[in-house]
Amino acid sequence: MADEKRLSTWSDATHTVREEEEEEEEEEEERGAGSEVQEAAAAAAAAAAAAAATVAAGSSNSPVALITAGSAGVGAATARLLARRGYRVVINFSRNTERARKVVGELQQLSRLPAHEIQNEHGNAYLAIRADLGSRDEIGRLVRETVVQMGRLDVLFSNGGWTKFRDMTSIEDNTIEEDWDMCFNINVKSHLWLMQAAKEHLDRTEGAFITTASAAGIYPSGSSLAYSVTKAAQIHLVKNLAVMAAPRIRVNSVSPGLLLTDVAEQVLTFAKSKSMTGVNIPLDAGFMV
Ligand SMILES: NC(=O)c1ccc[n+]([C@@H]2O[C@H](COP(=O)([O-])OP(=O)(O)OC[C@H]3O[C@@H](n4cnc5c(N)ncnc54)[C@H](OP(=O)(O)O)[C@@H]3O)[C@@H](O)[C@H]2O)c1
Repeated sequence: MADEKRLSTWSDATHTVREEEEEEEEEEEERGAGSEVQEAAAAAAAAAAAAAATVAAGSSNSPVALITAGSAGVGAATARLLARRGYRVVINFSRNTERARKVVGELQQLSRLPAHEIQNEHGNAYLAIRADLGSRDEIGRLVRETVVQMGRLDVLFSNGGWTKFRDMTSIEDNTIEEDWDMCFNINVKSHLWLMQAAKEHLDRTEGAFITTASAAGIYPSGSSLAYSVTKAAQIHLVKNLAVMAAPRIRVNSVSPGLLLTDVAEQVLTFAKSKSMTGVNIPLDAGFMV
């Protein structure tokens, strides 16, 4: 199957969802603004979405993982491992379409699913969806598209992060407001928006929400003060979300140091374990001991 075909599945997905949303909005306007009418429209929209999800899911009941920032680094390594272990996988990216396309091709090659589940007339087991984690609206769309395309969501690996290297010995170099806003937006808020958007779907599957924090969130270190502090906030967010999402969803984080070895294996362990929640696992090859 040509790469162009695979990517067109992703593009079509975006197109289809947008079209559906526009059609629903037009229908709603035609029906008028009365609350009963609005409720009926909402119910109809939910039924349509459920029907679309059923079709998109095809005959596959394999679990589904959504991996944000999934076309490189930790995200892509985890996508490869989950594809080998029987998961259908959606990777998210924001800019580099060609790189995302290549990772999707790799996942198809690595997959242990039967051929008819990897690609059939209802859709693909491996997709890339473009969405900017800096936008709450795009995060909502990312989760909606994933569920419409795949029919379910079992694991959300919320892996996106942002930093800019600064001199960690200088307060002046670490008081640039744009750095703090970007770090807080991506390292803290994006995980919260993802959890909010995915909660109903993870509730349904008794799924797992896992984030990538950092060793810099545990002890003063890393690329910038804003990064270190917001990664600490992310670890605390995860513990709070574990309480809020219990008992059906488990919420955990991994905290790599510079060495990224074994992060993917730990994510898989969190995905499968039914007995760990509110946990942050440092993966720093012993540097913190
Ligand atoms: N690397 C390390 O040493 C290290 C250490 C500790 C913790 N971490 C954490 O590990 C996580 C992953 O880091 P990494 O180094 O593996 O990443 P990376 O190699 O830099 O990968 C970047 C990924 O993020 C995507 N991306 C970038 N901006 C995005 C945005 N606004 N919206 C959606 N996707 C976006 C990229 O796709 P496009 O280019 O197409 O946008 C790509 O898929 C982060 O949370 C990071 O803080 C990393």
